[in-house]
Formats: sequence, C-alpha cells, structure tokens
Amino acid sequence: MQSRTPEDSKTTLTDLVLPSETNPLNNLFGGELLARMDRAASIAARRHSRRIVVTASVNHVAFNKAVPLGSVVTVEAKVSRAFKSSMEIYIDVWVEDRESGHRSKANEAIYTFVAVDETGHPVAVPPLEPETELEKQRFEAALRRKQLSLVLAGKLKPGEATELKALFVNS
Ligand SMILES: CC(C)(COP(=O)(O)OP(=O)(O)OC[C@H]1O[C@@H](n2cnc3c(N)ncnc32)[C@H](O)[C@@H]1OP(=O)(O)O)[C@@H](O)C(=O)NCCC(=O)NCCS
Repeated sequence: MQSRTPEDSKTTLTDLVLPSETNPLNNLFGGELLARMDRAASIAARRHSRRIVVTASVNHVAFNKAVPLGSVVTVEAKVSRAFKSSMEIYIDVWVEDRESGHRSKANEAIYTFVAVDETGHPVAVPPLEPETELEKQRFEAALRRKQLSLVLAGKLKPGEATELKALFVNS
C-alpha cells in the first residue's frame, strides 16, 4: 500500500466560540472542544486511510488554557502514526488574538481511529512516513501510547507492553 505523510492528512477547522458553547465562566465548554477535535481527527483519519473510520479511544487531552467566548479557535489534526488498522491522530488547538492575529497554542489531544469496512470490521491502512522533526518525535512515541491505551482498556497485559516498560526501566 502506498505510504502517506502527515501533511497528506492535515485537517484544519476554524470556528468561533458562541455563547451556547460556553460554561458559566464564559469559556469554551470542554465537551464542545472534544467534539470539534473528534470531527477534525476523523477527517484526518479518513484522508489517510480513504476508508470508513471510527473513534477507538481518546488517549490524551490537556485543557491547558481556557478559551474565552468570541475566540477564533483553530483545530489542526494530522495522523501521527499508522499501525495495522489503527491510526493515532495528534490534534493541536490554537487561539487567535483579535488585534495582533497572533495564534497561541491552547490545547492538544491524541485520538485513536480504526479504519473499518461496511460491516464494521477493521481493515488495513497505508503506512505513514513522518517528515519533520516534530512528526518523527510523535511517530516514535506513538507505539508507547498505543500500548498504554490497550493496557488501560484491558486489551493488552501490562507484561506484554514492551515499549511502555522500556520507558520506565530506562528512565
Ligand atoms: C474500534 C473497533 C473497530 C475495534 O474493534 P476490535 O474488534 O477491538 O478490533 P481489534 O481488536 O482487531 O482492534 C483493531 C485495532 O484497534 C486497536 N484498538 C482497539 N482498541 C483500542 C484502544 N482502546 N486504544 C488503542 N487502540 C485500540 C487495536 O490495537 C487494533 O490496532 P491495529 O490493527 O492497528 O494493530 C471496535 O471496538 C468498535 O467498533 N468500537 C466502536 C467505535 C465507535 O462506535 N466509536 C464512536 C463511539 S461514540
């Protein structure tokens, strides 16, 4: 199968924060951001695999900065590693300053999607070839994250998570 780059799957969604999407502090509601990230990540997974994709897990979410009402929010998703049928999607969230136009990083998240056929059975996806330094770092760390996610889901025995164990033994 022809390999693809993270850039091939890059998906950018830009939208405003409206009053109905905020919490009592007038900041973006966490669930709304999760939904925006899920949508961008699913498009990135679809662009990489050209298949039907489903969310298998949300591996990491960091709500580092509150996003105020009226903000312009950009969600950028790219495939960071492809395994057999699963893909890790890395999502960066940026908020734009109204006056300067400067974009600052607000949040990030990592989702796992699985490509499936019309009956919902997993199917193989093309390999990913990272290009930039950041893409290579994310690619390298993705196997550890996959193993952690599978251990937490009860789908892999901790003793079999070799990459994950090496992280603790070697640090
Ligand atoms: C995701 C799903 C297709 C996996 O099916 P499954 O029968 O567990 O299939 P497998 O065990 O063969 O796993 C398929 C791949 O998913 C990966 N996977 C499954 N659960 C995972 C998890 N919790 N974290 C990370 N990867 C996971 C497996 O490692 C495997 O990856 P690989 O093929 O790249 O090695 C199935 O669980 C499903 O359809 N879930 C519902 C999806 C959905 O509706 N999402 C929206 C929720 S509202």
